[in-house]
Amino acid sequence: MKQIEALIRAVPDFPKLGVVFRDITPLLADAGGFARCIDAMAEPWQGSSVQAVCGIESRGFIFGAALAQKLHAGFVPLRKPNKLPPPVIAVDYALEYGTDRLEARSDALKPGERVLLVDDVLATGGTLAAGRTLIGKLGGVLVGASVLIELAALQGRSRWHSDLPLQALLQY
Ligand code: PRP
Ligand code: ADE
Repeated sequence: MKQIEALIRAVPDFPKLGVVFRDITPLLADAGGFARCIDAMAEPWQGSSVQAVCGIESRGFIFGAALAQKLHAGFVPLRKPNKLPPPVIAVDYALEYGTDRLEARSDALKPGERVLLVDDVLATGGTLAAGRTLIGKLGGVLVGASVLIELAALQGRSRWHSDLPLQALLQY
């Protein structure tokens, strides 16, 4: 885990003063490190019969698509507004300032399909909670969520409001 952690760069005051940005690009560029990271994120879900992985745009696509391959599951992108053609199903959610929206194709999941939700970072938790709501609206059965990084000080886990497992490989 130390090897993976060493490949994540802490950038103070980006994108604004007071924020420590966790830059995953050195990890992605390191073939061995990225492979170990995907192996470790996939491991807790190997026995969970995951049929679809939903990844959140955009960094969640990187980890979600790789995990889908590892778990022999399909990949479903949960996209930011106005990227997908209609018909879509959407969920609006609150950000620190303002709102955002996640959308998916209305037929993206088969009824009862077992779904793992994936993103790179859990910060305040609004994005992951919106993903969970969207998967419910699509008729999927959520198995749990997986993130690479949990920013524990922001207490995003408290917005998960679910008994389903939320796995984080690294916590800061
Ligand atoms: C980042 C990150 C998560 C979200 C977490 O996304 O990738 O999706 O913030 O924040 P929250 O827990 O406070 O909701 P960003 O909007 O920066 O998009 P990106 O992946 O396209 O860079
Ligand atoms: N997404 C939300 N907060 C973040 C942070 N501090 N670093 C990287 N991605 C983030």
